[in-house]
Amino acid sequence: MIDPPIALLAELTHRCPLACPYCSNPQELTAKEQELDTQTWVNVFQQAARLGVLQLHLSGGEPASRRDLLDLVIAARKTGLYTNLITSGVGLTPKRLDYLDGAGLDHIQLSVQGVSAEIADRIGGYKGGFDRKIHIAEHIAAREIPLTLNAVMHRDNIGDLVATMDMAERLGARRSEVACVQFHGWALKNRDALQPTRTQVDQAKAIIKTEQKARMGRLVIDIVAPAYNSDFPKACMGGWGSTGLNVTPNGTVLPCHAAEPIPTLTFANVKDVPLRDIWYDSTAFNAYRGTDWMPELCQTCTRRDVDFGGCRCQAMALLGDPGAVDPVCKKSPKRSVVDHLVSKVSEKATDIGLIYRLMLFNIRTMLCCRRQSSKRQCLDVTRQGSGRTKYVRSRS
Ligand code: FES
Repeated sequence: MIDPPIALLAELTHRCPLACPYCSNPQELTAKEQELDTQTWVNVFQQAARLGVLQLHLSGGEPASRRDLLDLVIAARKTGLYTNLITSGVGLTPKRLDYLDGAGLDHIQLSVQGVSAEIADRIGGYKGGFDRKIHIAEHIAAREIPLTLNAVMHRDNIGDLVATMDMAERLGARRSEVACVQFHGWALKNRDALQPTRTQVDQAKAIIKTEQKARMGRLVIDIVAPAYNSDFPKACMGGWGSTGLNVTPNGTVLPCHAAEPIPTLTFANVKDVPLRDIWYDSTAFNAYRGTDWMPELCQTCTRRDVDFGGCRCQAMALLGDPGAVDPVCKKSPKRSVVDHLVSKVSEKATDIGLIYRLMLFNIRTMLCCRRQSSKRQCLDVTRQGSGRTKYVRSRS
């Protein structure tokens, strides 16, 4: 029997003022012209509520890039969905926050790129972003909107774990989601620059344990474990097609935000197929649901109902086979692929350039370029160790 989904992640837009090189959005970004309009999103929320969804996560890109964000929150609250805004804070203003608060927005997850303007603005690729974020965090606290601080930890900032949690408490967050970078989307493109060393991961694991205990009752610390430095895979998505669905800016419905590059699956669009039919009957959602799809090794494993076969997107990214045993599992015949990735990370400082996640329209603004952009085209921006920034045209 298939249970109804609990959560819907609505990626309202791929537009974003920041350019984080670990962004989980796909490398091919959706242009504004292809985004669902207000009424279609409202219809998606209504369908989701009827389907049994309880929580709506409004995400992006930067959801505040949508001028109709307030209308969408009002509509979502009308359906009874719990609404959580996942934002960089850039694009929000105290006045906009007042309206969202008045509309009944339930919760905000604020992403942070670092504990100081120097690192945060460098990683986010947006000068002044840190100060704007702190400013808006103070306004969130003043309105007592429940706040979670999201921090992605990687080679450059994993040493700032304690300072990150201090910052979360200072800003009034009751929860902090500390996600060790997962290699999908733009993070996969930047793996060599972002992957933490073995020593960093070992130290981070110890620090997190200590901090979870020390801050108990003040700050809940949720961890997304390092992608490769584990013996067993994570129970990704709580099992494929079991708890949530993801709607991309153009209406494509995915079982997981990173699933789009899986070439063997075809994903339906909410403009063509009702959400209920996609959830219960689509080939993509049923492909890795339950346990029947599992290779023999997972079928007979005692952890079968613990990690649900691990992560399909990881099996795809590392082995080119979404149905394979997750290579992070120490029993996988392909574990050597992961071991190799872990062992090749140098303990010494490296000078690998970051490829920033930017859409063409951002770049055009930055460079005052007058040329017409073609849709879905993006540029790679490589910041060299010297501090020079190089702009490189990428594929469309
Ligand atoms: Fe897609 Fe793990 S990220 S199943």
